[in-house]
Amino acid sequence: MDLGRLRGNVESIRASLGGADLMAVIKSDAYGHGLEAVAASMGRSGVRRFAVAYVAEAEVVRQAAPGAELILVLGATWPAEVPRMLRGRITPVVVSMEHGCALSEAAVAAGGRLGVHVKLDTGMGRLGFVCPAETAQAAELARLPGLDVQGVCTHFAMVEPEKKPTAAKGQAEKFRQALPILEAAAGRRLFRHMSSSRAALLLPDCDQDSVRVGISLYGYGASERNRRFTTAPVLSWKSRVMQVKTVPAGFAVGYYGSYRTAEATDLATISCGYTDGYQRHLGNKGHVLIGGKRRPVVGRVSMNWISADLGPRSGVKAGDEVVLIGEQGGEQIWADELAKHCGTIAYEILTGISRQIERRYIGGQEPWP
Ligand SMILES: Cc1ncc(COP(=O)(O)O)c(C=O)c1O
Repeated sequence: MDLGRLRGNVESIRASLGGADLMAVIKSDAYGHGLEAVAASMGRSGVRRFAVAYVAEAEVVRQAAPGAELILVLGATWPAEVPRMLRGRITPVVVSMEHGCALSEAAVAAGGRLGVHVKLDTGMGRLGFVCPAETAQAAELARLPGLDVQGVCTHFAMVEPEKKPTAAKGQAEKFRQALPILEAAAGRRLFRHMSSSRAALLLPDCDQDSVRVGISLYGYGASERNRRFTTAPVLSWKSRVMQVKTVPAGFAVGYYGSYRTAEATDLATISCGYTDGYQRHLGNKGHVLIGGKRRPVVGRVSMNWISADLGPRSGVKAGDEVVLIGEQGGEQIWADELAKHCGTIAYEILTGISRQIERRYIGGQEPWP
């Protein structure tokens, strides 16, 4: 994982934003990149706002980036966690009146007032007060003695490419209409945010006070030049060849022999399998890089091993580096390529890399960890 590139991505996004501030979405272990290292690196780069999914993640961020102004929990928060949130200056989103009342009661019991952001459901159909039907109810949160309503947010269900009619515009309009009602009740201007990566890239009018950017920080979904910002992948996933064997034509590889060699060839067995997050869909579809060349992954993916057909007289030997995601000898394989083979998205590939896999960081301002 290249912290230098991560800094470059942060700078590219921040420079493009004009007035809005970057809120770095680092939930799910910073999309599999390692929460502590990413939070610390971004904190040193001057990022002051972070979003996570759980209180436990927020506590890690509070330690790693002590200067953070906002650590927002986008996911579940429970009354029992209120004392921890008060201690760590951690801000939950409030998704319903029932949720707000429970958090308020716990805050009063703990002798504190909990800063919160109101979550509006403007069309995602997931968390939050449904707009406009429940906007007035959301405004009532300001009356609860244990809550300090500081911000308001929503989340887009889809952001289509330019020139297509976009449902996001309708969501943004509902959000804008709710603002005066919530702000009148709170008696202050609230901190507003609605865009994630794709909206930040394509809908600059929706920026508001902050944009919650996740995947683009890690280099996906914003690779085209001449866009608002461009970012590059920061995570490489590497393994090693365990064994190389020369086999004849017609040699069956792996469970149920789903691949047979076409000619006498070298086969590599590589230490990596579905338990590590290398999905079974990649068997007979994916590629790896060995010796600077693309090599097909052949046979089924096992729990701990995969095989690659190296071709005759490959010169590859046990211990050679294997790139599962990343660059080698001018060739590249990124998570979106794997995702395509698996019928999924880069998010799932990245967050699916097992926590057992050791994370190493290069390009940091100081060694980490
Ligand atoms: C509420 C919310 N905001 C922001 C994001 C960041 O989205 P992206 O990674 O597409 O930028 C997510 C991602 O899951 C999210 O759930």
